[in-house]
Formats: sequence, C-alpha cells, structure tokens
Amino acid sequence: QNTSLVTGHRAAETVDMAHLSRILVALLLVLIAGEAAATPYAGGRDAQLASSYSRVFSFGDSLTDTGNAAILPATAGGPSSHAPYGETYFHHPSGRASDGRLIIDFIVESLGLPQPTPYLAGETADDFRHGANFAVGGATALDPAFLKSRGVATFVPVSLSNETSWFNNVLELLDSTAYEEESNIMASSVFYFGEIGVNDYIFALFSNRTAEFAASLVPDIVAVTRSALTVRSNPLDPTTTTLQKRGPTCHHDLRRP
Ligand SMILES: *[C@@H]1O[C@H](CO)[C@@H](O)[C@H](O)[C@H]1NC(C)=O
Ligand SMILES: *[C@@H]1O[C@H](CO)[C@@H](O)[C@H](O)[C@H]1NC(C)=O
Repeated sequence: QNTSLVTGHRAAETVDMAHLSRILVALLLVLIAGEAAATPYAGGRDAQLASSYSRVFSFGDSLTDTGNAAILPATAGGPSSHAPYGETYFHHPSGRASDGRLIIDFIVESLGLPQPTPYLAGETADDFRHGANFAVGGATALDPAFLKSRGVATFVPVSLSNETSWFNNVLELLDSTAYEEESNIMASSVFYFGEIGVNDYIFALFSNRTAEFAASLVPDIVAVTRSALTVRSNPLDPTTTTLQKRGPTCHHDLRRP
C-alpha cells in the first residue's frame, strides 16, 4: 500500500513498509474490533462519533501524510508526486504515498468530518478549523541532530518534536482567534497518532549502521513517542510539549470516543 519516502531507496523501504503496514492494519483492526464490541448498534457508531467530534489532528510519517512531504522543500517533487501515486482514487498524485487513500482518510470519512488540512498547506485559523495533519513522509521519531550524533544521516528535517510544536502553533492560532476555548478544542478533537519511528531504523541502515545498532535505538524511539503521547498531571509544567500539556481531555485513540 505504502511505498517510498525518499527517492532512490524504494526497494528496501517497500519491504519494510509492507511488513509494517501489516502490523499497523492488525493493530487498527484490534482498535476497531474493540470499539465495535463496546457499541451495541454498529449503525449508530459513526453518527455517535460524528456528533462528538469537530475535527481531527493527526501525527506520523508517510503512512499518515496527506500532503506535507509534497510541500516540504526537502521532499517536494519526490516519487509520490508522480504516477502511479494517486491513480486509484484521486486520479492524480494527492500528496499521499499511496495509489489511493490512507487509513487516516477512512477514519476522517467515517467520522463524517472534512479532511484536516496538511499543516504545511495552511496558514490561518480558518485553514485549520477542521483540524490539521502534521504527519510528514520520512519523518523520524528522534530529532535529526540526535541521530546525527549517533552517526545516522537523515534526509527529512522533521521529527516528532516538529509535529508536536506545529500542533502547538495551530492550537494557539485557533485559540487566539477564539473559534473555541482551548479546552473545548481538545475535547472536541480526535487525535490520530499514526506510525512513527520506522524511518529512524531505515535511515540507520542507509547510513551503513548494523541491525544491532538500529535495534539499540528502540528505547530512545519508544521514550520519545511515549513522551509525546503521555498526559501529564501537571498541565502547567513548562518542560512538557504541547500535546502533553493539554492535559486530561486529550484522547489518544479511537477506543475512547
Ligand atoms: C524541526 O525542528 C528543528 C529543531 O527545532 C528545526 O531545526 C527544523 O528546522 C524544523 N523543521 C522544520 C521543517 O520546520
Ligand atoms: C554504505 O556502504 C556502501 C557499500 O560499501 C557504499 O557504497 C555507500 O556509499 C555507504 N553509504 C554510506 C552512507 O556511507
């Protein structure tokens, strides 16, 4: 389904991504099954969810990116801006690393919500009032500077910390224009946290590091991902990122509608 993030490295990534896609699909099915089991009337689920939420904020890499990598100078004009990308659904390259739609597209559709604007395609509060997609094809979990210090070259200058700080920008934009109170924005938004971390391993292997070295990154990648997702009990703690700071109304997945 998803293939390449970076020109010139398609074969290796296709294998990894195919494997990863299967894991992700399995994971999503677990989430969907869990939710269906908790809902007595399957037909009522979408309507119920749709009425609870006004927008989607999403994070991740090429499995979730709906247009950012196509705009980011470092990746613009990459493989997914050419056929056959987009051929089965949009009938033109759509900024997705897919011939059709991504999981996030189906989730947004089932919620009855408009597509969230890719962060790099928007500017004003109005652009983001239906949410924002911060995912970037090729994004890493760990910061490029950290990876570089470990001898890993990255090709895409975006990591999870960029995505959470972009979220901060959008939240402030929406809040400052008083579309809604910040706590209401959080409570009425679905957060989709897509795949992140696979590019850290891919870039390590491209940098001729060993598989053992790539595996040694696991604790750091898990820690930075967990840190972005963790709801802290102290919402005023200035050392936490925005996604953390926004506190108890933050929904991490679709199991808690
Ligand atoms: C991501 O964050 C780093 C560190 O703050 C910054 O140097 C880089 O320019 C950011 N990337 C983008 C695309 O904004
Ligand atoms: C990795 O090793 C290959 C084969 O020795 C070499 O061609 C390539 O330039 C190396 N890549 C990096 C990033 O060092």
